[in-house]
Amino acid sequence: MPGIVIVGAQWGDEGKGKATDLLGERTEWVVKFNGGNNAGHTVVIGDEKYALHLLPSGILSPGVTPVIGNGVVVDLAVLFEELEALEARGVDTSRLKISSSAHVITQAHRTLDKVQERFLGKRQIGTTGRGIGPTYADKISRVGIRIQDLFDESILRQKVEGALDQKNHLLVKVFNRRAITADEIVDDLLSYVERVRPMVCDSGLLLNQALDRGEVVVFEGGQATMLDIDHGTYPFVTSSSATSGGAATGSGVGPNRLDRIVGIVKAYTTRVGAGPFPTELFDEQGDWLRQAGFEFGTTTGRPRRVGWYDAPITRYATRINGITDLVLTKLDTLTGLERIPVCVAYDVNGERVEEVPVNQTDFHHAKPILEEFPGWSEDISGCRRFEDLPQTAQDYVLTLERMSGTRISVIGVGPGRDQVIVRHDLID
Ligand code: GDP
Ligand code: IMO
Ligand code: MG
Repeated sequence: MPGIVIVGAQWGDEGKGKATDLLGERTEWVVKFNGGNNAGHTVVIGDEKYALHLLPSGILSPGVTPVIGNGVVVDLAVLFEELEALEARGVDTSRLKISSSAHVITQAHRTLDKVQERFLGKRQIGTTGRGIGPTYADKISRVGIRIQDLFDESILRQKVEGALDQKNHLLVKVFNRRAITADEIVDDLLSYVERVRPMVCDSGLLLNQALDRGEVVVFEGGQATMLDIDHGTYPFVTSSSATSGGAATGSGVGPNRLDRIVGIVKAYTTRVGAGPFPTELFDEQGDWLRQAGFEFGTTTGRPRRVGWYDAPITRYATRINGITDLVLTKLDTLTGLERIPVCVAYDVNGERVEEVPVNQTDFHHAKPILEEFPGWSEDISGCRRFEDLPQTAQDYVLTLERMSGTRISVIGVGPGRDQVIVRHDLID
């Protein structure tokens, strides 16, 4: 089972970083296949806490070669900041590889991300402001700058000038900002050339050869199914393929090499930024859940929107990704609730709807139909076997499993690396 994909099954922050880290000791490669430093993964190892944005979570495991795939957008300043911060804490980062076809985020993208959001006013998406959307827009418009362009200064300058042409009109005439010169961007990019050179690779070749040798490759997705550009709650999404299909296109391996698709779900739901969220709580229960789960963004520090578990969303994610195993995280956060509501279907304009409505307006109008299940009050953070959990916690997990139609293979009972219950091995 060498090709394992990790994807978020909700709106992000499900605990993908921890799930990737969990596989670290038995994995040779971890490739990030989409997104950029909009992601924020917190990984807790012993007393140490690491916040990763652009780097694959596999960087924390000594035996792993971390790879930034072609589907990622790279902010080189952030890359080296993150590498230096890890090195200062004694993490060996020397194995990192970056696809020569990954696109780079420039100052123009960061500026546009921010001014475009401001321009949207009430319709804003609530982006992370890291330049992600504008960089992917340039990629699709075929005016993007790739890592490989850094190695030929005259080509780089031509491409940067081409890319800035329209953007400067937009910045100056529409947004009333100053123009950005090609020199600023070229000089900035060239300042990283020598440091990035030894990392550059053909990620497709590297990973296919690794799979041919029978090595284990984990494809780590950023963001999540409901933030996916095609399958998420468009336009309130990120600009990349965060679903399992993106693992193939974003790294350069064929879909038939993806043997296992692991979906990460929280035992409740959170969302950062704008867009529909049927089970969202606006009352003191929501405040309680936010505090109990410490739901504040790793990237922007924004308080996350919180709500109950939404079973139709997990079923949707299971279909879209072909999920074979679920990792249910943060079960421990629900400890202390007398009864736990779960969304089993939606009420859309008076009609019961069992699945995520494909029509955006219907999803905006969807009200959750909730069923309540008995909670537990015992501390479960020390449980390591399913049978150790209180009966009501076991029943809650089995109920979610039945509603989702996929087995829950791992259960998270705390942030620590060892705070998991493994019901089915993810690598076998
Ligand atoms: P990611 O973006 O999907 O990697 O998730 P984040 O790191 O943004 O958010 C998940 C948070 O939950 C992190 O702070 C993790 O340390 C924490 N976490 C992960 N699994 C568990 C769990 O089972 N229990 C608890 N209490 N915390 C968890
Ligand atoms: P991880 O990998 C949660 C959200 C933003 C915004 C929308 C678009 O930690 O789960 P962008 O800057 O990507 O153009 O913003 O997507 N978003 C995330 N929400 N977790 C993430 O990553 C996210 N990455 C982007 O809040 O609503
Ligand atoms: Mg996160």
